[in-house]
Amino acid sequence: MDRFYITTPIYYVNGPPHLGHAYTTVVADALTRFARLEGKDAFFLTGTDEHGEKIAQSAQSKGIAPQKWVDDVSAQFRKLWPELHIEPDDFIRTTEERHIRVVQAILQKVFESGDIYYGEYGGNYCVGCERFLDDDELVDGKCPDHGVAPSFVNEANYFFRMSAYQDWLISHIQDNPDFIRPERYRNEILAFLRKPLKDLCISRPKNRLSWGIELPFDSNFVTYVWFDALVNYVSALGWPDGERFAKYWPVAEHITAKDIIKPHGIYWPCMLKAAGIPVYRHLSVHGFWRGADGRKMSKSLGNSVDPAEMAQRYGADVFRYALLREMPYGQDANIGEEIIATRQNSDLANDLGNLISRTLKLVFRSFGGVVPRISETRVEDTALRDQWIGALTVVREAWHELRMSQGIETVIDCIRATNRYFDQMKPWELAKRGDTDRLATVLVSALDSIRIASVLLTPVMPERMAELRRQLGLTSFPSLEEAERWNGFTEGHPLAEGKSLFPRADLEEVRMRELHRREAAIQSGTSDKPEQAPVDSSTPVTIEEFRRIDLRVGTIVAAEPVPGARKLLRLQVDIGEAAPRQLVAGLAEQFEPAHLLGRQVVVVANLEPATIRGIESQGMILAADDQGRLALLGPAAAMPNGARIR
Ligand code: MSP
Repeated sequence: MDRFYITTPIYYVNGPPHLGHAYTTVVADALTRFARLEGKDAFFLTGTDEHGEKIAQSAQSKGIAPQKWVDDVSAQFRKLWPELHIEPDDFIRTTEERHIRVVQAILQKVFESGDIYYGEYGGNYCVGCERFLDDDELVDGKCPDHGVAPSFVNEANYFFRMSAYQDWLISHIQDNPDFIRPERYRNEILAFLRKPLKDLCISRPKNRLSWGIELPFDSNFVTYVWFDALVNYVSALGWPDGERFAKYWPVAEHITAKDIIKPHGIYWPCMLKAAGIPVYRHLSVHGFWRGADGRKMSKSLGNSVDPAEMAQRYGADVFRYALLREMPYGQDANIGEEIIATRQNSDLANDLGNLISRTLKLVFRSFGGVVPRISETRVEDTALRDQWIGALTVVREAWHELRMSQGIETVIDCIRATNRYFDQMKPWELAKRGDTDRLATVLVSALDSIRIASVLLTPVMPERMAELRRQLGLTSFPSLEEAERWNGFTEGHPLAEGKSLFPRADLEEVRMRELHRREAAIQSGTSDKPEQAPVDSSTPVTIEEFRRIDLRVGTIVAAEPVPGARKLLRLQVDIGEAAPRQLVAGLAEQFEPAHLLGRQVVVVANLEPATIRGIESQGMILAADDQGRLALLGPAAAMPNGARIR
């Protein structure tokens, strides 16, 4: 039997689970369920990463003993997964004995082979990343992912001779094009590897950090958290001689977001090679979720999405559907409640739900809820069949290549085609006319379509599809083999009545809730100007995208402080429209309102309005920013208000 082994990163327990953690774990769960549809023997591992400075610091800041802290937070992860219909086969914690034993055994093995040595090193350490950053990874002296300056650490430690594996790793990546995928991340890793690879510092002296796994060959040190954490992927399988290890390791696939490709794409393969363990088969990297406003999710912006809340409001399955549908694997994507609700209303309620309810209703009304006999088929029926059967290959390939969003879209396209077929065949008229033969064929074609959809969407919406299959009177575990059969129902097969599967959300209500979330965040926030998402210069914008931004010259005609907001000014800017625009800008610390009057500035005129401190801001003024020191932009010569900037 074919096997399948998938892992998520094991998550840091410095805080409760959030949407990013939920997404990767939903992906792994859905891929596992898809593998089972294909009849594979599948194993899905997740867990928590519980050692290291970051965790020790979070426990300390809460005044809680590290073990108690990690027990509590790890439990929050374990509690969330079933709420999202996520069912891992194992959940590993790095504080477990079974893990500690394996980390020490691997360290000892690599030490004995001569690839671990003692030395001294000084470098910039980012606690957020839990790694030393190279100088060229810093942006304005700060870690771009965590926005803080790393601290310089210089101490004697043990080192893993990673440099010895550089050439081997480059060849391995070149010889195995799908080792790291999608391609842009493979290229990113190859780019890192163009520079000489440094050896990896793999210990911390206990007198500085004791929260970790003791080195087996020197009790004055604990293991560096990444050397500890990555090993979970084999310790959970019972390396070296566990049955699971023998079974699943040869097909190992890791999924992570782009933030941790260096440890997974470089450290881990080198560690495996040094320990004499075959390397994993795939590292599949996805992008980052941003808020619906396209900015980095943060509490202070009120643009973050709470997975437990969304699962409760929409049902875990609808939430999973939205996540898997919205993010093309590998790219960044935006998410917010309105996006989820819109997906529910359009794809699920309008398309799928509507098809199910009108088909089942007619089968009950015309045939007493029993699958009728079909006599003749027409070209429209076979065209529908061909579309579904053709879609199966596309869907299967899409899931194999982690293009789940496309796989889902293909199914929804078929559902839309089935709805069009239904509209054209007008079975309700056939019923009225008493054309029972034709009616039977049309309804059975629709039932077959729904049955195939119930298989293909099971990995995404396991519970709703189980209920759908109950209503279809199906008792077997869904399989792709079943989906390949058209005319899969036998005559006389009874359907079961049931409730409608996909209710509709009131989008007005949803928008109000989102607005309240944003406003509450701004009201309670400590900063008037929240952290901005780092500029993603790796993804170029097209000229068309750039042209969508309406930049205008404007003159500041009024300026006053915003009461109670240290940094904010309320401005009126004439951009050549009937009335000046009201803008709220974070300029108060540097500019006297009176000095701004008459200045020409550049305004983003089509920015979505935002309410800041209860004042509507209808655009944004551009300024150059040198670590908080601002210079307003304006035309070098006086221009008419409203002049377009191109
Ligand atoms: N503990 C390490 C991983 C060790 S694996 C041997 C770690 N933990 S983490 O808690 O920071 O989780 C990082 C992972 O969470 C990302 O790689 C990704 O899977 C997920 N995400 C966190 N934020 C995310 C988004 N905003 N968007 C998508 N996924 C993100 O790193």
